[in-house]
Amino acid sequence: MTRPVLALLAGGPRLVDPADPILRADDLGVARGEAVFETVRIAAGRPAFLDLHLERLSRSAARLAIALPAGWAELASVATDAFGADDGVLRLTCTKGPPDGDPVGFALVTPVPAATLHAREHGVAAVTLTLGVPAAVRSTAPWLLGGVKSTSYAVNMASLRAAEQLGAQDAIWISSDGIVLEGPTATVGWVSGGRLVTPPAERVGTLAGTTAHIAFARSPVPVDTRLGTLEELRAAAEVFLLSSVRGVVPVRQLDGRELGFGQVTRELAGAFERAVLGG
Ligand SMILES: Cc1ncc(COP(=O)(O)O)c(C=O)c1O
Repeated sequence: MTRPVLALLAGGPRLVDPADPILRADDLGVARGEAVFETVRIAAGRPAFLDLHLERLSRSAARLAIALPAGWAELASVATDAFGADDGVLRLTCTKGPPDGDPVGFALVTPVPAATLHAREHGVAAVTLTLGVPAAVRSTAPWLLGGVKSTSYAVNMASLRAAEQLGAQDAIWISSDGIVLEGPTATVGWVSGGRLVTPPAERVGTLAGTTAHIAFARSPVPVDTRLGTLEELRAAAEVFLLSSVRGVVPVRQLDGRELGFGQVTRELAGAFERAVLGG
């Protein structure tokens, strides 16, 4: 198995031992969760859709008032080349740094986890979980950081653990007023009345997904970006999750109801995989 690679933005990019400590204890990324990140798929030995990820990294950094340093494309390519495998996961992170210091940027490349490969092939069971806030609040109260890819993901990870306790591998958040939002690490879409439906990120304060951006432009059916209710999701013919490394993954079971690996999901997944390889 290919070994992980760690590269630092400062002074380079510069490759370091992945076991080396690279952050100070008073880094605000560590102390306060003030850090931004991107998870990028490596396919055919290259980071896929890097420009989209770097644009989002920069938008997230602005929301956290992190002065994002330059040099991310070179950092990504140095780390990916050093990893040397066709497939992998490239994680770019920038912390705010210590109160008296500069932001710290780094790239970590690791192999694709077995669970990810399994989900790509077989799909996942998902449960709906409340996020406990109305759908509009994360877009109208910017300090809640809706749509920001920050490392303050403890709630996201706790949601996945809650899903596991219910016998599922993934979750779909529902607002307190019954509107479908997103997964803790994925955009959600479903098929209703022969059309593809996905929530409007800017209205519900969800992350604008790069996978959704690429896949929906290649959808075999018309795409409606609109609000959808929990009832509609539960009645959908197909439900799927989209994220960079997993791609388009069918939800095979939702809240205990069996769903197939539907035709639209299959075609979207195929179109996304071709786009990842430059097609
Ligand atoms: C909360 C959330 N929504 C959506 C996504 C999907 O984004 P992308 O397709 O760019 O990976 C992610 C990705 O990690 C995420 O964390």
